[in-house]
Amino acid sequence: ESATMGPVALLVLCLSCLLLLSLWIQSSGRRKLPPGPTPLPIIGNLLQLDVKNISKSLSNLSKVYGPVFTVYFGMKPTVVLHGYEAVKEALIDKGEEFSGRGSFPVAEKANQGFGIIFSNGKRWKEIRRFSLMTLRNLGMGKRNIEDRVQEEACCLVEELRKTNASPCDPTFILGCAPCNVICSIIFQKRFDYKDKVFLNIMERFNENVKILNSPWIQIYNNCPTLLDYFPGSQNKIFKNVDFIKSYVIEKTKEHQASLDIHNPRDFIDYFLIKMEQEKHNPHGEFTIDNLTITVSDFFGAGTETTSTTLRYALLLLLKHPEVSAKVQEEIDRVIGRERSPCMQDRSHMPYTDAMVHEVQRHLNFLPTNLPHAVTCDVNFRNYLIPKGTTIITNLTSVLRDDKEFPNPEKFDPGHFLDEEGNFKKSDYFMAFSAGKRMCAGEGLARMELFLFLTTILQKFTLKAVVDIKDLDVTPVMNGFASVPPPYQLCFIPV
Ligand code: HEM
Repeated sequence: ESATMGPVALLVLCLSCLLLLSLWIQSSGRRKLPPGPTPLPIIGNLLQLDVKNISKSLSNLSKVYGPVFTVYFGMKPTVVLHGYEAVKEALIDKGEEFSGRGSFPVAEKANQGFGIIFSNGKRWKEIRRFSLMTLRNLGMGKRNIEDRVQEEACCLVEELRKTNASPCDPTFILGCAPCNVICSIIFQKRFDYKDKVFLNIMERFNENVKILNSPWIQIYNNCPTLLDYFPGSQNKIFKNVDFIKSYVIEKTKEHQASLDIHNPRDFIDYFLIKMEQEKHNPHGEFTIDNLTITVSDFFGAGTETTSTTLRYALLLLLKHPEVSAKVQEEIDRVIGRERSPCMQDRSHMPYTDAMVHEVQRHLNFLPTNLPHAVTCDVNFRNYLIPKGTTIITNLTSVLRDDKEFPNPEKFDPGHFLDEEGNFKKSDYFMAFSAGKRMCAGEGLARMELFLFLTTILQKFTLKAVVDIKDLDVTPVMNGFASVPPPYQLCFIPV
């Protein structure tokens, strides 16, 4: 009998040691970190977090632990910043220190650290600087970005006209337009909404967003080894990234053959010029790998975000006909019925500008932002945050601040207007985040939202299919993004 007790006792002993060891590792690292709920070994605070609504769980924890606290997603400590003051102090005042990207094992495996969204250090700096400059240059060119978005707005409206004022779910059409704007910027040309290549690109990105956005991914991301036991979705992501990679490589070859360095047409042309300039630099970042993943990042970051915001805007406009009427009055007065809306109009249209901001504030698309990381050991409010620690900024706590935006749960463009009806800027508007990692496509996104929405409202009146009292406009949490509930509407030509 004693012969069988031996191994069992040994096992129990080993497990207890392991447990103690992990507790000791956790508590020794915790001494100088911000306070937080006591983590269990291995699973950390996962039991205290609702994976379907992380932002809400974090807000609840901040009521106990204050604006700066630590939670353990598994073994890994994550510092959470809650409220405008803490978020601003980190992302803006200590911008450099907080400009790292937090780990995202699934994306890291697919992107291998290339590109812009998930890269870090020198690579991130160079690719980001180049991307921003290229967007700016393309914005000023002969066929500038505004022309491209206006062209897409016309096509979008024509597509909506084909619905013949009958009830439709706008998801597909509103998904095409932002995707095509990215195509136009990257590849110089837009596609027909029925083009097979275009539909293929869209589908693959939508699939990736869906997988990356499933609640399970939060678990995967914190226990990367689990990934290897569930290869299904992971392989799909790789396949989709490979598809876009080979498409970009094919297009890049075509571009190389027709490149005129004095007349860059699009993002790929600018990248090729930069590659040529840097070809003798052995540590250069302007490589085919960085080109393909950066392009893939632009699609990933620039399509679903903008189309979801457009879809939510139309839902809110349906729910609030008094807001739609005011926007349409402003369109009539400033633009009229004949010419296409342009960006110059925006400064004369404070109500419409406020409406767009309010849609984004209310949607709160990325409630917990993308994760950041500190790039060195940082002293923050007398805590010591070690280099590499993941930082979560709870943007909900900023966008729903009840002093800055009284009645924060209410959709009210007045949140961005002063008493005279002028547009009122707010530092609390962090839908695009803030600081050095802030959305690289902010200008483009705001241009699309303004031009698409004004063009739609210039040509159509929106009609609900159900009694608007029964329209539910509460965003649904879907992994780390919030999205509008599904709905239908009619586009009635004016
Ligand atoms: C309504 C539309 C959009 C919203 C709400 C949005 C929001 C965001 C947010 C919250 C981040 C994370 C910032 C951070 O880490 O602190 C981000 C990053 C990014 N966005 Fe956007 N975005 C939108 C549209 C676009 C578009 C159209 C593009 C196209 C170029 C784009 C490109 C990027 C890129 C490249 C990053 C990564 C920046 C980096 O890591 O340095 N976004 N966006």
